[in-house]
Amino acid sequence: MHRFIRVLTTLTCLVACSNGAMDECTDDSNRPQRCMPEFVNAAFNVTVVATNTCGSPPEEYCVQTGVTGVTKSCHICDARDPRQHHSAVYLTDYNNQADTTWWQSQTMLAGIQYPNSINLTLHLGKSFDITYVRLKFHTSRPESFAIYKRTREDGPWQPYQYYSGSCDKTYQKQNRGFIRTGEDEQQALCTDEFSDISPLTGGNVAFSTLEGRPSAYNFDSSPVLQEWVTATDIRVTLNRLNTFGDEVFNDPKVLKSYYYAISDFAVGGRCKCNGHASDCVKNSQSRLVCRCKHNTEGDDCGVCKPFYNDRPWRRATALNANECLPCSCNGKTSECYFDSELYRATGHGGHCRNCADNTDGPNCERCLDNYYRDNTNRCQPCSCSPVGSVSASVCSASRGWWETSAIAASPDTTASLKPAAGRVLAVPLAARRSVMCSQGAASARTTWRASAVTGWYEGRAETAHGLKSLGYLHSRPEAFSHVAPT
Ligand SMILES: *[C@@H]1O[C@H](CO)[C@@H](O)[C@H](O)[C@H]1NC(C)=O
Ligand SMILES: *[C@@H]1O[C@H](CO)[C@@H](O)[C@H](O)[C@H]1NC(C)=O
Repeated sequence: MHRFIRVLTTLTCLVACSNGAMDECTDDSNRPQRCMPEFVNAAFNVTVVATNTCGSPPEEYCVQTGVTGVTKSCHICDARDPRQHHSAVYLTDYNNQADTTWWQSQTMLAGIQYPNSINLTLHLGKSFDITYVRLKFHTSRPESFAIYKRTREDGPWQPYQYYSGSCDKTYQKQNRGFIRTGEDEQQALCTDEFSDISPLTGGNVAFSTLEGRPSAYNFDSSPVLQEWVTATDIRVTLNRLNTFGDEVFNDPKVLKSYYYAISDFAVGGRCKCNGHASDCVKNSQSRLVCRCKHNTEGDDCGVCKPFYNDRPWRRATALNANECLPCSCNGKTSECYFDSELYRATGHGGHCRNCADNTDGPNCERCLDNYYRDNTNRCQPCSCSPVGSVSASVCSASRGWWETSAIAASPDTTASLKPAAGRVLAVPLAARRSVMCSQGAASARTTWRASAVTGWYEGRAETAHGLKSLGYLHSRPEAFSHVAPT
């Protein structure tokens, strides 16, 4: 038992030691650091659902002495009598050594024995990081029982550990098997170590979730074990009673001395908050939830808050709080989402949404299509003229060419671009903005080598049937230098 307690303590520390500083989600200089709720008995005062309990109607049971032929001391289990009931509330009440209370099943006389089984199910109401599950038996420990867990409330039951004097026969598991490095670390093992009929009362069985699992010493970097210790529900299935073999004679007194009785069902662990909260509280629907820090939210602090999507959500580790970071949207929006491609490309995954003031781009850093940045740094509409820009699509004050899809569309089109200084002087301000637009239809093949003269140009595309497109642009030398000859 001593060795066991020591292992428990070591493993408790692995999942995280409970020193005072650990409870704070920021350090002395206000930097985020890993934090976690205190270590508790998660089962305490939580009602266990038992599929069988003695006492309705009242029935007699006898205390096992281990000696045959001796007059047994017998008692009544009566569910309606507060002094004689043994309901499941006694599994998780205060465990008082001086005044033991226990849950008790019906006896073997009522058919309680393999292959009939009894389930004791504990709904924690929230995910916990489980360090151990401990049972204290009021009778002798069962010959075979198993512990199961659910990782999520709607998930499947998964075996945690088998205890059996007949591992192979009852559970098809190797007795005292172990897990080697590289093997599945989420497999349940079986042992016969705690399946002896003695002691006849007070025997403990404790299952430590991480013991014997190779990655336990690298817990922070083992998602497999992080999931393994996570549970929202714990179930104990009692499969076979231990007997002295004297039940074969069907003596009712003997059969009445075989039944399951458990005085304490404890689950050591912490409310699971992924290192982002130091306590769990009841929410408005009186459900237990983490009080999340580090810009996280959710029952388990399992996601980043809206607008904190600069990098993917991660658990906090001893070395890194992995807090969620805000998106940078230049003050143009309070909405963004995590964009994994953007994150791979730039190291920042926050993709802004619904950028205001005609801005666009992952960080609201540029103007919307058809808008350009004016000299007061605001995005203004291009107001491209339908004539000349063909379709109002893209404009940019820094692009110096004009194209029309009409040119590409009809083979007989002739196009020209010539200085239009005289004309431009005549256009009103609104139209002048429009002539700054160029449209970037990639299908138009014709580009003109333009002389590096700053000024207004007229672009004209004509077919045999007349003018197809007319546009104006203002060139700046640096813009024209990008125009490639064809
Ligand atoms: C046990 O739970 C009940 C309600 O579920 C609550 O009223 C009571 O205060 C709890 N007792 C302790 C000691 O926490
Ligand atoms: C008892 O638990 C086992 C294992 O989860 C399950 O297969 C079985 O259906 C349960 N029985 C009852 C009566 O709930």
